[in-house]
Amino acid sequence: MTQRIRKAVFPVAGLGTRFLPATKTVPKEMLPIVDRPLIQYAVDEAVEAGCDTLIFVTNRYKHAVADYFDKAYELEQKLEKAGKHELLEVVRNVIPAGVRAVFVTQTEALGLGHAVLCARPVVGDEPFAVLLPDDLIWNRGPGALAQMVDLAQATGSSVIATQVVPKEQTSSYGIVATSEFQDRAGRITAIVEKPSPEEAPSNLAVVGRYVLSPRIFPLLEATAPGRGGEIQLTDAISALLAEDEVLAYRFQGTRFDCGTHIGLIEATIRHALDHELLSEAAQGFMRDALSELGVLDVQ
Ligand code: UTP
Repeated sequence: MTQRIRKAVFPVAGLGTRFLPATKTVPKEMLPIVDRPLIQYAVDEAVEAGCDTLIFVTNRYKHAVADYFDKAYELEQKLEKAGKHELLEVVRNVIPAGVRAVFVTQTEALGLGHAVLCARPVVGDEPFAVLLPDDLIWNRGPGALAQMVDLAQATGSSVIATQVVPKEQTSSYGIVATSEFQDRAGRITAIVEKPSPEEAPSNLAVVGRYVLSPRIFPLLEATAPGRGGEIQLTDAISALLAEDEVLAYRFQGTRFDCGTHIGLIEATIRHALDHELLSEAAQGFMRDALSELGVLDVQ
C-alpha cells in the first residue's frame, strides 16, 4: 500500500440512540465541542493527513451534515457587510480549498461495515481512511490519522488505531490479539467484535480510525450480519487478516469517546480548559462547582 491515501470515509448514518432525544433532529456528529461540531474535528484530522476527498456516508435524517459543508450565501454576505472577516474565514474554511466533499446514502442502518461498503463506488481501487467522528482524538503533534497514514505508506499495510482499555470494558469494543509490538505497531493476529472480558483475547481495543486496503470491499460484500444483526467492519477485517498484513497502532494523543455522555462532557471540559479565551473562566467555575459539592477544598 505505497499508494498515497487521498480518500477519507466518514460513516455518519448511525441512529445515535445514546443521545436521544437531542438526536431526533440533531445528528450526533453535529453536537459541538465548544463551537465546532464533532464532524469538523474529524474532517480537520483527515485534511491534515493529506486527504483531499471526503466521503460522507449519510441517511435521510442527516441533512444537517450536508448543509454544514454547503456554502452559506446569505450568512457569508452578512458577515462580509458587517466587516466580520475572521468569522467569514471560519465559515468558509469548514472544508479548505482544493478538498472536495462527496455524499453517499446508506438507505438502511445495516451496520458500520455496510456503511463503509456504501462508499466503494467513490473510493474505487485504492487504500483509504475511515474516521468515526464520535471518537475525538486530540494531539499536540501530528493527528492520529496522519501518524497512521505515515505508517501505512511506509509498510504497505492496513493500519487500525488501538488503545488499551480496562478489561471490564472489552464488550464495548472490537478487541485485537497481536504479535509483539515494535515501537507503536504490532501485527494483528485476531480481531473480535465486543467480546466479554472472559472471551477477549487482550484488552487492546479498536478505536475509530482505520487505513484500509481496498481488498476490504469484496470481503465486506461477503460478510453476513454478525453481532447485533449488523454487517460488522470487524468481521471483514478478520477475513482480511488471512490475505494481508494489518497493523494495530497505538497512536499518540488523547481519545474522547464522544458517542457516550461522559466522553462528550470530558471532551468539552478539556477543550474549554485548553482554550485561550475560555480557560481561566472554565477553571474558575469548575473550582466553585467542586467546592460547592465539597469535593475540592478551595482556600
Ligand atoms: P455506533 O455504534 O456509535 O452507533 O456507530 P450510532 O448509531 O452512531 O450510535 P448509538 O450507539 O445508537 O448511540 C459507529 C459509527 O458507525 C456509523 C455511525 O454513524 C458511527 O459513526 N454507522 C453505524 C453507520 O454509518 N451506519 C450504520 O448502519 C451503523
